[in-house]
Amino acid sequence: MWFLTVLLLWVPVDGQVGPTKAVITLQPPWVRVFQEETVTLQCMGPHVPGNSATQWFLNGTATQTSIPSYSIISAGVNDSGEYRCQTGLSVLSDPVQLEVHRDWLLLQVSSRVFMEGEPLTLRCHAWKDKLVYNVFYYQNGKAFRSFHWNSDLTILNTNISHNGIYHCSGKGRHRYTSAGVSVTVKELFPAPVLSASVTSPLLEGNLVTLSCETKLILQRPGLQLSFAFYMSSKTLQGRNTSSEYQISAARREDSGFYWCEAATEDGNLLKRSPELELQVLVPQSPTPVWFHVLFYMVVGIMFLVDTVLYVTICKELKRQKKWNLEIPLDSGHEKKVTSDLQKHRHLEKALKRQEQEKQPRDRVYRKALREAK
Ligand SMILES: *[C@@H]1O[C@H](CO)[C@@H](O)[C@H](O)[C@H]1NC(C)=O
Ligand SMILES: *[C@@H]1O[C@H](CO)[C@@H](O)[C@H](O)[C@H]1NC(C)=O
Ligand SMILES: *[C@@H]1O[C@H](CO)[C@@H](O)[C@H](O)[C@H]1NC(C)=O
Ligand SMILES: *[C@@H]1O[C@H](CO)[C@@H](O)[C@H](O)[C@H]1NC(C)=O
Repeated sequence: MWFLTVLLLWVPVDGQVGPTKAVITLQPPWVRVFQEETVTLQCMGPHVPGNSATQWFLNGTATQTSIPSYSIISAGVNDSGEYRCQTGLSVLSDPVQLEVHRDWLLLQVSSRVFMEGEPLTLRCHAWKDKLVYNVFYYQNGKAFRSFHWNSDLTILNTNISHNGIYHCSGKGRHRYTSAGVSVTVKELFPAPVLSASVTSPLLEGNLVTLSCETKLILQRPGLQLSFAFYMSSKTLQGRNTSSEYQISAARREDSGFYWCEAATEDGNLLKRSPELELQVLVPQSPTPVWFHVLFYMVVGIMFLVDTVLYVTICKELKRQKKWNLEIPLDSGHEKKVTSDLQKHRHLEKALKRQEQEKQPRDRVYRKALREAK
């Protein structure tokens, strides 16, 4: 029966396969404490009804404790170690590394390993809660925050830039400096990249699908990303699990700068894509009918005027040609002659000349004259 119930818990949740993991929380929330301090670990996970039995492990070895809360009263160095727990219907929790220290100043952290977007709280804690002031917090040796009166420091949305070694310093009787503690922030997904199904510039009326692309690096059960699409400062599509947005028919007004956002469902982690410029080209607007009518009318009139001009010029040219026409001398008797007047004069002159030169040719010229008539 137990086995069957455990199997049922492996049913996919939100598309992800995975059973419920037990989770350890600390009260107070610090994974680094001074000796003699008290800390309680709480195991949270599903139980078999009527049985709240919980198994605790320290450094991989099962402990005597079988209740959900594991109390360490007046911590000793031998309480340091890796704690894990498991409830009836859960799988083993992620480990919690508890450190018990002996020092003047201790930089306390809520966890040493985070997923980006989770909060990180730092506390510069003095031995026996003695008063310290003029407190500085350092990341990788560089002071990034100071308080005149000692105060906790919370980074609400951690990102990979918060990786590093932290320490603090504060003034009491002397200036004290804590040891360093390494904090790791794991990236959950990289910043998205917005892409379009059609390359810009695109034509008016085109269908455009915008995709907000990123990938979860760390898979967590039930973890899902949501996406939002923007153009300049306008929201096109609010948070939605769909990583795509469609412009069914692009218009000129759709030209502009687009960007998208990918976020975890709780909204704690939100990443923005670089901008993508889309340009929508509009074909030349069709010319109105009156323009065509006018155009062809003008062309028609121009053609008519041209034709009339051409005919007039041709006639004029022909008329001028008539008056200039001459019969070449070697044109023989078969050539057609158009001007009787000129021909007569010419031939008569030629005849006279010939008669003076050679009498015998007289008959030939007379014949030519006759034929030309
Ligand atoms: C730590 O040591 C004390 C005695 O010094 C002992 O009573 C206690 O059980 C030890 N705790 C663990 C977790 O071994
Ligand atoms: C658990 O292991 C750590 C080293 O990983 C060691 O310092 C600590 O003393 C161990 N704790 C116990 C109770 O064995
Ligand atoms: C990380 O967060 C800080 C604010 O806490 C912000 O100024 C910085 O731009 C962020 N870095 C990245 C890479 O998101
Ligand atoms: C998410 O997008 C789909 C398709 O674009 C739409 O049908 C649905 O209504 C949207 N959901 C929300 C909560 O806006």
